[in-house]
Amino acid sequence: MAAKKTGGLAGISAGTTHLCTVGKEGAGLTYCGYDIYDLADNASFEEVAYLLLRGELPTQSQLDEYVAKIKSKRGLPDALKVVLEMVPGDAHPMDVLRTGVSFLGNIEPEGDFSNQLDTADRLVACLPSMLIYWHRFHTDGTRIDTETDDDSVAGHFLHMLHGKAPSEMHRKSLDTTLILYAEHEFNASTFAGRVITATLSDMHSAVAGAIGALRGPLHGGANEAAMELISRFDSPEAADAGVREMLANKALIMGFGHRVYTTSDPRNAVNKKMSKALADEVGDTVLYPVSEVVEKIMWDEKKLFANADFYAATVYHFMGIPTHLFTPIFVCSRITGWAAHVMEQRADNKLIRPAAEYIGPALKAWTPIEERG
Ligand code: COA
Repeated sequence: MAAKKTGGLAGISAGTTHLCTVGKEGAGLTYCGYDIYDLADNASFEEVAYLLLRGELPTQSQLDEYVAKIKSKRGLPDALKVVLEMVPGDAHPMDVLRTGVSFLGNIEPEGDFSNQLDTADRLVACLPSMLIYWHRFHTDGTRIDTETDDDSVAGHFLHMLHGKAPSEMHRKSLDTTLILYAEHEFNASTFAGRVITATLSDMHSAVAGAIGALRGPLHGGANEAAMELISRFDSPEAADAGVREMLANKALIMGFGHRVYTTSDPRNAVNKKMSKALADEVGDTVLYPVSEVVEKIMWDEKKLFANADFYAATVYHFMGIPTHLFTPIFVCSRITGWAAHVMEQRADNKLIRPAAEYIGPALKAWTPIEERG
C-alpha cells in the first residue's frame, strides 16, 4: 500500500521479518513475539540475545551454556590489540569498533557461513572488550585483561571500564538498556546490514556497515547528542528558555521524534524510570529535572515524544560512563539484532537492489573536451 510520505522510504515495507514488530497496534515493540516490557522486567540481556539469535527463549541449561560460551569468547587476539593501540585516542569509538570488526573479519574470517552462529556469538562477546581495551589504553595507559569473571555482558562492560565489579543496580540498569536497544526491525543500520548481506558478503562486512550507519546523530548517535544538549543547561529554567529558542530557530532536538512511532516510544518509559532512580542515587538535582522540562516542552510545543535515546543518555551518565561511549554501547547490544537479521536474510536471500526515479538531464550529445566551456 502506498505510504502517505515516501521520502526516506517512510512507510514502505521493504521485506519480511520474524524478529521484531515496531509500533504495531496493541503490540508496541516485540522481539520474536515477546513484549518489550516483559523482556525488560524479566529477562537478562543474554536471554534476549539467545532469543534473537536462536528464535526461542532458552531453558536454564541452554542459558547457562550460552553465558559460558559468551564468557569464553571475550578475549582479543594480540594482533587486534596492536590495531586498537594504534588507533588514535581521540578517534570516535564508533570508528574504533568499525575498524575492530573489520580487522576481526581479516584474522577470523567467516568462511562459508556454516558457523555463522559462532561468528555472531563471538561478536556479542568481544565488542565490549574491543571498546574498553581501546578506551582504557588511551585514557590511562592500561592494557586491561578483557576476560573478567562477570557472567553478564553488562557486568563485564562496567567491570572493564571502572576496574571493579559494578553494583547490582548499575549492572541491572545497563543490562536493561541493552535489552531495549537489542532489536528494532528495519531501522537504518539493520537495513544497511541486510543490503550488504544480500550480496552474499560476510557478517563482519554487514556489521561494519551497520556500525557506520548507526554512528550518525539521526540514528544511534542521538544518545550522545542528547547528553550534550541536557548538560548544556544548569537549571530547568535555563533549559526552558534554551529549548524554546532552539525550536524557534528550527533546530533539531536530539532524542526526540521517531520515523515509525507516532505517539510514544515504548522504551522511553523504562529508561526514564531508570534515569530517575539513578539520579536519586547520585543526588542529581539538575540533569534529570532539565530532562523532564525538555521532554515537556517538546510534547507541549511540537507533540514530539522522547525516544529511547533521550533518557538512556542520563542513565549512562549517572553510572559514570563517558559520553563518547554511549553509541558504542548501542552497538554492543544491537549486534544481536544485526546478526539475527544477517542470518534471516541469508535464509531466504534475494539481492536488494531497488530502482531509482531518474530526475537528471535528458540525453545529451557528447561534446569533445576542446569544444567544452
Ligand atoms: N526536533 C525538532 N523537530 C523535529 C524533531 C526533533 N527531534 N524530529 C522531527 N521534527 C520535526 C521535523 O523538523 C519536521 O518538521 P517540519 O514538518 O516542520 O519540517 C517534522 O517534525 C517531521 O519530522 P521528519 O524529519 O520528517 O521525521 P522523520 O521521520 O524523517 O525523522 C527522526 C525521524 C528520528 C530522524 C527525527 O525525528 C529526528 O531527527 N530526531 C532527532 C534525532 C534522534 O533522536 N534520532 C534517534 C531516533 S530513535
